[in-house]
Amino acid sequence: MISFILNGENKAVENSDITLLEYLRGVACLKGTKNGCNKAQCGACTVIVDGKAKRSCVLKIDKCAGAKIETIEGLAKDGKLHPLQEAFIKTGAVQCGFCSPGMIMAAKALLDVQLDPSEEEIKEALKFNLCRCTGYIAIIEAVQLAAAVMRGAAEFPAVASGMVGTSVVRNDVLKKALGEPVYTDDFDLEGQLYGQVVYTEYPYAKVLKIDTSAAKKAEGVQLVITAADIPGKKTFGLLSCNQPVMIAEGEHACYIGDSVACVIADTKAQAIVAAKLVKVEYEVKVGVFDAPTMALPESKAFLEKGKIISHTKVRRGDVNKAFAEADVIVEGDYYVPFIEHAYMEPEAAVSCYLDGKLTVYTGCQGVGEFVVNIADCLAIPRAEMHVIGREAGGGFGGKEECTVHIHAALATKILQRPVKIVMTREESLKVSTKRHAENLHYKMAAKKDGTITAIESTAIVDTGAYDSLGLPVVFRSGVVAAGPYQVENAHTDSIGYYTNNPPGGAFRGFGSSQATVAAEIHIDRLAEALKMDPYTIREKNALAPGKQSITGQTIGDDCGYPETIAVVKKRMSELADTYKPSGANKRIGFGIASSYKNVGLGTGLQDNAGAIVELTANGQLRILHGAFEIGQGCNTIMAQIAAETTKIPYAAWLVLMNDSEICPEGGETTASRQTFVTGNAVKFAAADFAIKLKKALKEIYGLEKAHMNFELLGVRDDLSGKLFSWQEIAKKAFDKGLSLNAAYDYTPPATVRLPENNTPPEGHNPKDYDIHIAYCYATHGVIIEADEQTGEYKVLHVVASHDAGKVINPMAFKGQVEGGVVMGIGYGVSEEYALNQGVPITTDLGKCRIPKIADTPKIDVINVERTAPEGPYGAKGMGELPINPPAPAISNALFNALGVRLTHFPITKEKVVSALAVKNA
Ligand code: FES
Repeated sequence: MISFILNGENKAVENSDITLLEYLRGVACLKGTKNGCNKAQCGACTVIVDGKAKRSCVLKIDKCAGAKIETIEGLAKDGKLHPLQEAFIKTGAVQCGFCSPGMIMAAKALLDVQLDPSEEEIKEALKFNLCRCTGYIAIIEAVQLAAAVMRGAAEFPAVASGMVGTSVVRNDVLKKALGEPVYTDDFDLEGQLYGQVVYTEYPYAKVLKIDTSAAKKAEGVQLVITAADIPGKKTFGLLSCNQPVMIAEGEHACYIGDSVACVIADTKAQAIVAAKLVKVEYEVKVGVFDAPTMALPESKAFLEKGKIISHTKVRRGDVNKAFAEADVIVEGDYYVPFIEHAYMEPEAAVSCYLDGKLTVYTGCQGVGEFVVNIADCLAIPRAEMHVIGREAGGGFGGKEECTVHIHAALATKILQRPVKIVMTREESLKVSTKRHAENLHYKMAAKKDGTITAIESTAIVDTGAYDSLGLPVVFRSGVVAAGPYQVENAHTDSIGYYTNNPPGGAFRGFGSSQATVAAEIHIDRLAEALKMDPYTIREKNALAPGKQSITGQTIGDDCGYPETIAVVKKRMSELADTYKPSGANKRIGFGIASSYKNVGLGTGLQDNAGAIVELTANGQLRILHGAFEIGQGCNTIMAQIAAETTKIPYAAWLVLMNDSEICPEGGETTASRQTFVTGNAVKFAAADFAIKLKKALKEIYGLEKAHMNFELLGVRDDLSGKLFSWQEIAKKAFDKGLSLNAAYDYTPPATVRLPENNTPPEGHNPKDYDIHIAYCYATHGVIIEADEQTGEYKVLHVVASHDAGKVINPMAFKGQVEGGVVMGIGYGVSEEYALNQGVPITTDLGKCRIPKIADTPKIDVINVERTAPEGPYGAKGMGELPINPPAPAISNALFNALGVRLTHFPITKEKVVSALAVKNA
């Protein structure tokens, strides 16, 4: 037996080969310690062993004999949070929360020995812990605040009111900071079985035979399913529904993440062993692994669907004439690679029967499409399918579609037993969608005064093996190709090609990130050719109220793009002398880049969202909506909007989201749309609820509106001072048959598909060219230090200015910007999901090279509030935009520092050295 002390209690466990993480989660049922990679690369499993932070996924239990082990569950004492937990909550350091327990434990190990740590010491202590949401800034602030409180040098800030515009503490983070079981893999059902999916061995091969006989005989195996067992539709997907759930005999596996079978067994270990016994015979085919090859005229389509997923054309004015009359023409090529979302929580599904309905629990980005896809594949009525959203440990666009969900549900349907399938990090990397890789060619023309007169561009987009959301991503790369500028003559093509790579799907930025990289470096090259500074060319051509985008949309009064440039220009000039080279070969460089991004789906698509605001029969005020909390804070935003609308305190509201049985449909949490559409649904439902409530209070108690004072616990009569509790009000209202339930389905202003000819004729109706309801705008300034010998460089400071309309919660806004900026730095500096002939080279989280805490620069978050008339309290949306400007701004800063243009991403030090060699040759 191995004995140790766990959170102050003596424990003993039989000596075995398991890790401490397996013991904690599997034996001790302490689910607060998370498993993000099982390879000591993410730090989500960090606990404290004998005073030292340890990654429990690689620490064998037999090494813990006699140890004192502390986990997140042991931190709060007597109902009081540890200062670190409170600080993480109050500084906005918890977003999706999957990294938070590990972060907090690593920070505790530091504060246990050093109560006044420097920023460098904090970064050193947390260097093994990854966070994909926050950009680490708030985490550093949280550790500093906790330390200051613990040594008596500071107090926690007062709690904000929760009204619109205040930095109230988020309503979903307490349980995450406590390490409560909130994610899909954190809970188990009685009689639960475990699934292991079998994936193809080749990225392109005909499946000749699948032999499951040996696997079926293996110990503990209850079932082995293949495509032949799927009773309904054999494919799934969001738009075109053409991705096979499993590849059947005689069909082709088209990328390395295609599955061929799934083993269901009593234990996970048994399922893994048996999965290896599934024998598959293949006829291996020669695949196509890059879009430019596929774009060659001689390349043949390898799929029935053809070569091309879609081709977006923007045609405006007379490009040939504009080029002929130009003073300056600049032409260039750009490349951006596939990128992995790298959410800290790998995908998971638990399926079961609940109240007679087939039910799937999962952390995703919208339950509606999961209901449709699973029910259709299983041939059950959609009304008999129930999907319940669990907390998602990050999404960033990567959890919009099914992965293992249909496999789990099918097994439950056949066996009538609960089934859990959790993907390993390696499986997640192999199977999940990626940000599209793109090869872009740009040609732009300008007049001597800096007016950009023409753009001709082509984006060759690698959409991988299946459609996923490739079609709208291809569209987005085409329509924002010119960046946030008015360009009178445009000829842009964005063409998506099928390959045998993983499907390109939704990813924060959604096609605009790739276009921004090319456009914003290209604009700087144009400025260089004109001997003009990068601010002036942007100011001169900036989209502004009354100007037109290249698709002909007239920009509304809510456009604050010019202000974002002005703000960055001012701040960057203040910082001009702040940074000095730290060595003889070092150079400081300044770069800027801008971007704009649509809010909502637009293009004539259905974009509505529903909400219910009610007082339940037992006196609970609650909001039910269909947006999905993936760490961005939407549940908080909805409670703030309800509080502002009704004047009932923020803390009184319980927010429920994404249960397909009880919540209205809200569509996908994508396209920076939920604050706008679900926010409006909540606002209108709350307004209706407030009317009903006031009527009821008058009818029940004779209260006049002017004397109703809404408090956390109920309604106070200002005249008598008497408080009527919510429970009492609910009971009396229900006794009288008064409804205190208000539902609203919000449909945003109409949009249109991209008109064939994007040049609006004289006297046109501007609305005929509104492809989107609103846009948000950003300009970022970046300061770097680069070494002209080694090519190494570091981002030191980012000034991030955004116009996202009215900011509902400044702390959440800051967190979104900081997280997006750091993700954008990763896009520029280090990240790439690399493949060799369709087989991933990026096989673990470490190889994704996402930014670590040491890579975090100083970030100034500056908000330019141009309120949107249709947005809730003037809000627009901004979940995606902060990721766009950093990568091109870094390239521009490198040019400023070293005089070399880097156009192929990520910009590694080797690429910088090569560029310097060419320059110096
Ligand atoms: Fe750190 Fe989401 S809050 S990974």
